[in-house]
Amino acid sequence: MLHRYDTVIVGAGLAGMRAAVEAQAGGSCCVLTKVFPTRSHSGAAQGGIAAALGNEDEDDWTLHMFDTVKGSDYLGDQDAIEILVRAAPDAIIGLEHMGTPFSRTPAGRIAQREFGGHTRKRACYAADLTGHVILHTLYEQCLRHAVRFFPEFMVLALAIEEGACAGVVALDIATGELHTFRARAVILATGGYGRAFRISSNAHANTGDGLSVAARAGLPLEDMEFVQYHPTGLFPSGILVTEGARGEGGHILNGAGERLMERYAPKMMELAPRDVTSRAIQSEINEGRGIGGGAFVHLDIRHLGAEKIMKRLPQILDLALRFAGVDALREPIPIQPTAHYSMGGIPTDNDGRVRRDAAGAVVPGLYACGECACVSVHGANRLGCNSLLEAVVFGERAGRAACADLPRLGWAAFPPAAEAGVRGDLAALADGQGREPFARIRDDLQEGMQRNCGIFRSEGPLREQLDIIRRLKERFAAARLTDRGRRFNTELVEMIELRSLLDFSEIVVAGALARTESRGAHYRTDYPRRNDADWLRHSLAWTGPEGPVFDHVPVRITRYEPKERKY
Ligand code: FUM
Repeated sequence: MLHRYDTVIVGAGLAGMRAAVEAQAGGSCCVLTKVFPTRSHSGAAQGGIAAALGNEDEDDWTLHMFDTVKGSDYLGDQDAIEILVRAAPDAIIGLEHMGTPFSRTPAGRIAQREFGGHTRKRACYAADLTGHVILHTLYEQCLRHAVRFFPEFMVLALAIEEGACAGVVALDIATGELHTFRARAVILATGGYGRAFRISSNAHANTGDGLSVAARAGLPLEDMEFVQYHPTGLFPSGILVTEGARGEGGHILNGAGERLMERYAPKMMELAPRDVTSRAIQSEINEGRGIGGGAFVHLDIRHLGAEKIMKRLPQILDLALRFAGVDALREPIPIQPTAHYSMGGIPTDNDGRVRRDAAGAVVPGLYACGECACVSVHGANRLGCNSLLEAVVFGERAGRAACADLPRLGWAAFPPAAEAGVRGDLAALADGQGREPFARIRDDLQEGMQRNCGIFRSEGPLREQLDIIRRLKERFAAARLTDRGRRFNTELVEMIELRSLLDFSEIVVAGALARTESRGAHYRTDYPRRNDADWLRHSLAWTGPEGPVFDHVPVRITRYEPKERKY
């Protein structure tokens, strides 16, 4: 089936829907989304969205900028970070005017709490449901502006002809039919890829589909070696326990009942940035100081009192009870680090236009925003609450840029064989001669990524993981679909997702192997120091026939020269 929209957005999280609110002003606009819009993973973001509003502490954008640059271990591009933090207060007020029900101070202002790596109370929140309420607000706004949604549509390919983007081909999961969407502008907002790891805070849908279609279209991915572990995932599932719990005063305790952060970040303690805190927790676990010597430590919020917990952290109370059987009013919560966020992604300029080379040339008609993109405002380590902010600020900018570009974009020639190519590709995928279920290949990938490419990395395990991925790709090529039905063929969906996971995991591991230094979330035990002389630069990776091929681009430094990070 053929559709024609001025702007096609792929992904209905905060970035995609914020982009849609802008883009609809320029012409017809639709959003394709693998899940129902309000089930997008942005809804799982709990603790807040950052902005120097100064409602609870004196604050201004320069402080927010410095915290973000330092948090990024100086790999963030400072011009982009400045755009982010300067736009933040207006972005929050804009969300408020759209109807977002933020929590309030006694004086009626938007309430703000502490968060890791931020030196001021800067996280605007709605209890511990911040992403959820913003997601619903933006969905309402999209409906108000008559944005057309295609729920349960999965993007399978970008149509790029003569270097310009002409649309996408997508699978209607409900019917099994392929749909071609011609567009003048395509905005990718497909979110993150945390599902490459066994322990993850991410939804099952977070399989990096947008990254994979970009890489398969011959585009580079940037800084993929930087994967964030959130310090407090529920044990054993990895479900997010918000940093807001520590922002409200929660303590992390080891098996001896000690506040373990005293040893690693004596000044900021539990509110050190995530890379530092996750390494601290994992070190305690690895050295036998977990609870009872086990693979978890405790997050204790009991001393906050029932009233505060029920008012500010109601979801945590519920999740701890449902998924760990723990009453957090009376018992400490068992936690472990959990794969949470991808700092890398599809490289873009500061308006979301996708870059195709190290010189910064863009692909006309193609944009990316949110977690699937790399602007880069997070560098080597994102600060909590800056992701919702990035999604909203750069979603708006990408939508606005697409709108502004429409008149000169025209309708690029659509590759005539695009849909047939995807059909053939799917048929080949389904036709393997083996009998192995895809789920087993996925489990082996997740297990290996967790073991060999996790918080602590070194050459031997990374090489082993590259071998594992190459063998998994061979197993994948031989695997076969058992469900040949068309309607809601979830096995087919999982197979395509697994191919994405395999695609970008190889780039993550090859990038981690190539980067012989430690910076932010990328920690090499065999290269434990940051090495600015050789590595103060971004990685760009293309998928080649023999594996990933790398180039590099410099970091844009405008205000703050790199210094040693101390917390
Ligand atoms: O801890 C949290 O609430 C997560 C927030 C984030 O990743 O920004």
